[in-house]
Amino acid sequence: MAYDEAGRLSRLTGQMLNFYRGSMVEDEMQPTNLNEMLDDVIVLIRDELPPAGIILRTDIPQNLPVVTGSRDKLKQVMLNLIANARDAMPQGGHLDIIASAGAADVRMTVKDDGMGIAREHRDRIFDAFFTTKGKVSGVGLGLSVCYGIVSQHRGSIDVESIPGAGSSFTVVLPLPEHS
Ligand SMILES: Nc1ncnc2c1ncn2[C@@H]1O[C@H](COP(=O)(O)OP(=O)(O)O)[C@@H](O)[C@H]1O
Ligand SMILES: [Mg+2]
Repeated sequence: MAYDEAGRLSRLTGQMLNFYRGSMVEDEMQPTNLNEMLDDVIVLIRDELPPAGIILRTDIPQNLPVVTGSRDKLKQVMLNLIANARDAMPQGGHLDIIASAGAADVRMTVKDDGMGIAREHRDRIFDAFFTTKGKVSGVGLGLSVCYGIVSQHRGSIDVESIPGAGSSFTVVLPLPEHS
């Protein structure tokens, strides 16, 4: 129990630090190459997926537009969404990372075919400390960190989920002339 609690507190501290750091993003805004950001993310996660029975599929065009933002913070957003996708597929499944660019914005989607989000939880998942993962594994700050960072990029996060079938989280970032 002590071991589990120490682990939980350490995760909690780490996430609270990220939460706090997330609010300083204004200082770090600079032209950010999203292809490079996504490459960083994929390098970090790809080796851990096969042992968890998760197949990674990517659909990322080569020349995503440059956005004004923080590469580190956007990485954190994608890593948090991916961590949730993994948690939603304890038996394994498919993780899709999809990007696309439109006239006014760029979209990055993290999609899983895991357990999905119960209807009654939909409105609460972005709340700080909301978790359905029990004491040991979840502290419920991942999505609130994502929300904070994406808001500071003047973007938004769209969620689609079918309970029992999977979820998809899409980060929408405005292009510079539209933000
Ligand atoms: N991909 C997903 N599939 C199913 N449920 C999800 C997914 N992402 C988030 N959730 C739900 O939203 C809650 C909050 O997520 P988050 O803020 O990252 O906290 P935590 O992961 O610590 O529980 C999760 O506990 C879970 O119920
Ligand atoms: Mg999480």
